[in-house]
Amino acid sequence: MTTLNFVALCGSLRAGSLNSAVAHAAAALCPPGVVLTVDNGLDALPFFNPDVEQACPPPVVAAHRARLAAADAVLLASPEYARGTSGMLKNALEWVVGSGDLVDKPVAVVTASPSTTGGDRAQAWLAETLGMMGARVLPESLRIPLATNKITDGRVTDEETLASLRDLLEAMARACRTVS
Ligand SMILES: Cc1cc2nc3c(=O)[nH]c(=O)nc-3n(C[C@H](O)[C@H](O)[C@H](O)COP(=O)(O)O)c2cc1C
Repeated sequence: MTTLNFVALCGSLRAGSLNSAVAHAAAALCPPGVVLTVDNGLDALPFFNPDVEQACPPPVVAAHRARLAAADAVLLASPEYARGTSGMLKNALEWVVGSGDLVDKPVAVVTASPSTTGGDRAQAWLAETLGMMGARVLPESLRIPLATNKITDGRVTDEETLASLRDLLEAMARACRTVS
């Protein structure tokens, strides 16, 4: 069986980010035959501009697209800001609308939030955008409510959350091995 290459895009820049902790926990929980790389560098991307895209996308954009194109599946770890995802993550997605790097690709979303709703509105918002982009949005996507009780010092400590993350990674691997 060939190794599956997953990429996690982290939508938060905060040093103590709950979502960054979740993305790194996922990297450590991958099933055999799966490697997940966390991309914490979405702030290096310029704001999306169709003129720049048409003229010549900068190398940082080309590298972002190439990472997503090479991924077998993508995990989005998103904060909920003002009932949506972060501007940074939305921007990273805008750069791959035209290039089509997420078309037919399995994409799972995880939202960790201190609130009881667990980022459900960011989750719904991303599902809508990803659907428009032609991604295969996995129904197993995960919300982590009351996340400050489950993540301590950058580590996911809650057993139920760890089990849910393992299940999510298994679902991503199954999706890669199943033709849509
Ligand atoms: C400007 C701002 C807006 C926010 N809006 C929401 C929101 O609409 N819904 C929500 O559940 N949490 C909201 N939050 C709380 C964030 O979800 C929380 O800070 C979370 O920890 C951010 O993700 P991170 O820990 O990965 O950085 C907001 C926080 C800030 C600073």
